[in-house]
Amino acid sequence: TDYPRTFKPGFLWGGASAASQIEGAWNIDGKKLSGAECIKGAKPGETHSTLDEATRASISEAIKSDSDKEYPKRHGNDFYHRYPEDIKLLSEMGFKAFRISIAWSRIFPNGDELTPNEAGLAFYDRVFDEMHKYGIEPVVTLSHYEMPVGLTIKYNGWASREAIADFTRYTETVFKRYKGKVKYWMTFNEINTGAQGFHATGALEDGLKTADEKLQLRYQALHHQFVASALATKQLHEIIPGAKMGCMLARTQTYPATCNPDDVIMAQKIDQLNLFFTDVQVRGEYPEYMNRYFAEHHIVIKMLAGDQKLLKKYPVDYLSFSYYMSSATTAEERHDATAEATGNQHAVRNKYLEQTPWGWQIDPQGLRVALNTLWDRYRVPLFVVENGMGTYDKVAEDGKIHDQYRIDYLRAHIEQMKEAVEDGVDLMGYLTWAPIDLVSFSTSQMSKRYGFVYVDLDDNGNGTMRRMPKDSFYWYQHVIATNGEAL
Ligand code: BG6
Repeated sequence: TDYPRTFKPGFLWGGASAASQIEGAWNIDGKKLSGAECIKGAKPGETHSTLDEATRASISEAIKSDSDKEYPKRHGNDFYHRYPEDIKLLSEMGFKAFRISIAWSRIFPNGDELTPNEAGLAFYDRVFDEMHKYGIEPVVTLSHYEMPVGLTIKYNGWASREAIADFTRYTETVFKRYKGKVKYWMTFNEINTGAQGFHATGALEDGLKTADEKLQLRYQALHHQFVASALATKQLHEIIPGAKMGCMLARTQTYPATCNPDDVIMAQKIDQLNLFFTDVQVRGEYPEYMNRYFAEHHIVIKMLAGDQKLLKKYPVDYLSFSYYMSSATTAEERHDATAEATGNQHAVRNKYLEQTPWGWQIDPQGLRVALNTLWDRYRVPLFVVENGMGTYDKVAEDGKIHDQYRIDYLRAHIEQMKEAVEDGVDLMGYLTWAPIDLVSFSTSQMSKRYGFVYVDLDDNGNGTMRRMPKDSFYWYQHVIATNGEAL
């Protein structure tokens, strides 16, 4: 019997990014603030996430401030002005696909306007045209952690059902506008992280005292996102026949910390909390195991008649996910620094794995496990839309950036991805995070670098923004040219 030995023809090699981490131009051409642009960065050298520290007071302070140094996602890497140069660099690497997100707040600056902002729409026209000039396929996230902050103020973001109408007015607008230009879409970036708080729900939690009260708000917000996602999928298929809609999961592969059955059960429970999202978006149903979880945490999801039918009728066409690390789960009442990175409150250090300076455990084989797990469960095409190594880079004395560690990281993951293809997984493509250095999401630092291209900018917002290809740039160019054969 034969089996696939290579990545399939038309495999989408490329990279991924997000508006609030690259664009800058936060108050230009009619744009207003998104939630992400209201979060301060971690100090240089600190490694903890600053994401979910938002409160009503911190948001109103941010709205009054016009500093892009204090709020680094307001300057990004200046893609808004440098996109021709950046896309040209991607084309030199041979990119087949480039994932960006549309900043909702560029199209509907407050979120609730009835007519879109033409200058915002025109910007993405220019970006997509530039990509097509080089044969690069745009892959577009509709909402990458960047809800207009106006909607947080108005009705507390996704906690309110009103967000569905505002979101679907936005999605309908962009589907109609970019009809001939964009085929691959996805709704909510890493939708599962909505179970962690503000950055993904746009909902503030001031006044909520218990963990369960917070979970109530978050899962209700997520229900609204599920409904919005189903409606957007319906719209997409009507407006752009043949276009594909994906869901997007942050997949942290979970292992039991030991073969003690207590750990195995706990790992399974943690895994279900991750797979819940794809169960809803791919299978179109709330899975039974969540009934027990909701009951144990006193969560009641308010659904309207018709919601469940909608979820069933409009599942996604493909499943995309990010993969950075795995976690080891213990049933004991303890966790360590790995818990923050993985979002798994039962995570402990896996002694078999190395980790990055930010405590992200490097596990290429975990990607193979993730691919097989998701393929076995769902049987829809899979798409790795983020994978990469965020770490410090140094400009050497020869003026170059010798990032062999990044090459090693990516090579090992591509090797495992190939194993998964040989295992029989249907894989559409591989997008690295992120081809050009950008502002980190969780810490808003520039020093946590991911790119094949170095950007001269530091954590304090100082630098020339000059672009410089690193060693990995030439390596990835060769990988793409050989369809992943020469690693
Ligand atoms: C994913 C996000 O969680 O990981 C990206 O979708 C993010 O937005 C990426 O940038 C890497 O995380 P970080 O915090 O290192 O930027």
